[in-house]
Amino acid sequence: MESAAGTETMINGKKYLYFAGTGYFQLNTNKELLEAAAKATMKYGTGSSTSRSITGTNPLILEIEKKAAEYFGTEDAVYLPSGYLSNIAGMAALKELDLFDLVFIDEDSHYCNYEGAVLTGKPVVKFKNRNVADLKLKFEKSLRKGERPLIASDGLFPIWAKPAPLKDYLEIAEKYNGVLWIDDAHGVGIIGEKGRGTYEYLGLESERLFMGATLSKAFGAYGGVVPASFEFIEKIKTGSVVTGSSSPMNAAVAAGIKGLELVKNHPEMREKLWENAGYLKKGMKSLGISSDENCLPVVSFVAGNSSSMKKIHLELMDEGIYIQYADYRGSGNNGVLRIVVFSTHTKDQIDFLIEKLRKVLP
Ligand SMILES: Cc1ncc(COP(=O)(O)O)c(C=O)c1O
Repeated sequence: MESAAGTETMINGKKYLYFAGTGYFQLNTNKELLEAAAKATMKYGTGSSTSRSITGTNPLILEIEKKAAEYFGTEDAVYLPSGYLSNIAGMAALKELDLFDLVFIDEDSHYCNYEGAVLTGKPVVKFKNRNVADLKLKFEKSLRKGERPLIASDGLFPIWAKPAPLKDYLEIAEKYNGVLWIDDAHGVGIIGEKGRGTYEYLGLESERLFMGATLSKAFGAYGGVVPASFEFIEKIKTGSVVTGSSSPMNAAVAAGIKGLELVKNHPEMREKLWENAGYLKKGMKSLGISSDENCLPVVSFVAGNSSSMKKIHLELMDEGIYIQYADYRGSGNNGVLRIVVFSTHTKDQIDFLIEKLRKVLP
C-alpha cells in the first residue's frame, strides 16, 4: 500500500477503488486526527521511553481514558498499546478478580481472545461458532456443580459480519453465576445508536458483560480500550500488560482522542455507513449474492474454491478494484471474498463495483 487507505488507494504503483480493510469512516486521513497526532508528537515526543508504572502516564493518556469512559458510558476505561492486548489484559483482570473457574470460547474467536483465555491458566473449552446449543452441551460435559463459566467470543465476527448471540450468553452466564467477555474490535464505532458496539446494537446491558475494543478500525487511530468499572480498570492498570510495556506512541493517543470525539459527535457518519451498506447489499442481491438484511457494512461470499476466488480477486484488480480474498479466522478452508463499504464511498463507486463484479463473476 503506497498511500493512506481510503476509497481510493495506491497499491504497488496503481490506484484502486478500495473496498477492504476496516477504515469505515476513513478517519485515518481526517485532517483533525492528523493535526492532533503531529501536535502531540511535537509536544511530547514520539513516545515516553518508560512504562506507565514509572513516569509514562502523560496528560494525553489520562484524557483518552476519560474520553473512552464517556464514549462507552462507563465509570472508567484503560488505554492499551493495541486492541490485541486489550483482550489479553481484560481476561487476566477477570481472573485476578476471581470471577470464573473455566473458559468456554467460540471456536472462531479472534487469536487474541483465544490467547487471552489460555493465558488465564484456567481450563479452556471450545464451542461451535455462535452455537448456543453446542455451548450448553459443552457445559453439560465440562462444568461441574458450583463452577462459574467465563464465556468468551467476538462481539461481531469480522468475516461474515455476524453478531454473536450475546443475549443467550448473558442469560447462561447469569444462570451459572459466570461472566461474558467480548472482543468487539469490529463492532465498536459502527453499530449501536451511540456506536458503543454489538452489545448496544443488541440492546443489552449487564454487570456480567466485559469487553475489549480497538481504536485502529472505525476510530481511525491505534490502540486498545477496555471500558469498565474503577475496580476492574485498576486491575488492568496494575497488571502485567500495562506495567510491563512502554506507554503507547503519543501520535496514536492524540489521534485516538480525536477519533473518539468525532465518532461520538457525528452520528451522521454512522447513518451514512448504514445507508451505504444497504445500497451495497441491494447491488449484491442483483448479482444473486444475498446477505443478512441489516446495517453491517460487509458482504462476504464464496465463489467456487480458493483458486477461483483468487482469480476473481485478480480480475477485479485488473478492472481497478480491490476487494479482499480473506483467509482468516472464521473464513473456512477455502477462504471468502469480502467486500467492505465505508461511509465515504459514493453511490457511483458502489455501482462501478457491482458492474465489474457482474463482468468477472462466473
Ligand atoms: C476481531 C479482532 N480483534 C482484535 C484485533 C486486534 O486489534 P488491534 O489491531 O488494535 O491490535 C483484530 C485485528 O486487528 C481483530 O480483527
